[in-house]
Amino acid sequence: MSDIRTYAELIRNGGLVAFPTETVYGLGASAFDPDAIERVFLAKGRPSDNPLIVHISSIEQLRDFAVTIPDQAFTLTEQLWPGPLTLVLPKKPGVLDRITAGLSTVAVRMPDHPLALELISQSGPLVAPSANRSGRPSPTKAAHVHQDFGEQIPVLDGGETRLGLESTVLDLSNDTISILRPGSISRKQIEALLNTTVQERFFHSDGAAKSPGQKYSHYKPVAEVRWIADLPDTLKPDTLYLAAQDLPEQPHLISYQGDLNRMARELYDRFRFADHKAYRYICIQEFELRQDDISTALKNRIDRAVSL
Ligand code: TXA
Ligand code: MG
Repeated sequence: MSDIRTYAELIRNGGLVAFPTETVYGLGASAFDPDAIERVFLAKGRPSDNPLIVHISSIEQLRDFAVTIPDQAFTLTEQLWPGPLTLVLPKKPGVLDRITAGLSTVAVRMPDHPLALELISQSGPLVAPSANRSGRPSPTKAAHVHQDFGEQIPVLDGGETRLGLESTVLDLSNDTISILRPGSISRKQIEALLNTTVQERFFHSDGAAKSPGQKYSHYKPVAEVRWIADLPDTLKPDTLYLAAQDLPEQPHLISYQGDLNRMARELYDRFRFADHKAYRYICIQEFELRQDDISTALKNRIDRAVSL
């Protein structure tokens, strides 16, 4: 772990370090260093009204950021932390405005990755947006971080991330509990643990996004992403096809044999691959949606890549 010590020291000295989590790579900076946080926004080209998630390595650290912690939060953290669940809670006075973009709430999660937990335990809590330039697909490999930032950002390399889609963001800051961003932790799972109904508020049809990140187009490759109901008889060479179902192997087609978890894990890498190969289109075959698996999150990320 001597390597981690070096990265932790970089953070303590105000630097930025990209590190692996179970979801995607994060671009970490000390949650107590306003200048370092400013550099995160600059490096990513991130709009300043899009708040950051604080990453912690122990449950005690939650009290440094959240002013009130409802029992429901403890029920969830006991069962699901460390893990891909971000909780939005009323923020404690003193939490830097730059983290919360001036909101009265703060988003916190404990990542389920040994390197992330070790780094945070040595450096202290980190803000960590996904380690991509704004508008690019989130990185699931160290190489993706290098693609976006060159050698400018040191990367703690933990190989490919296990889940590939960003954490579920759950708003516990008021009486109506809602999922602001779907992820691997499903609505069904949260409802079962809390014994209550949970809203989904990740579509911003009324234009009033509750989670500021919802109004930005994320996860977007250069190739145009489209949903298709069925594959054409003849596949076009300027198109990369992704299909959840089990199909015979063909050039330009990746079939996932019903394994949506693998599709989720690989999605952003496929987006980057399509651009590298200069595909004009990425056509993704529609799949069945369920409330208790990754399909809702996967569809959400693809929808965002499809829309403007
Ligand atoms: O899996 C993840 O969550 C990854 C890894 C690195 O941990 N991080 C990540 O961060 O996806 P980022 O910055 O790319 O996305 C954070 C999302 C944004 O949609 C943002 O608007 C929302 O969380 N968010 C942050 N603070 C919030 C708050 N106080 N209220 C509502 N939404 C918030
Ligand atoms: Mg992001």
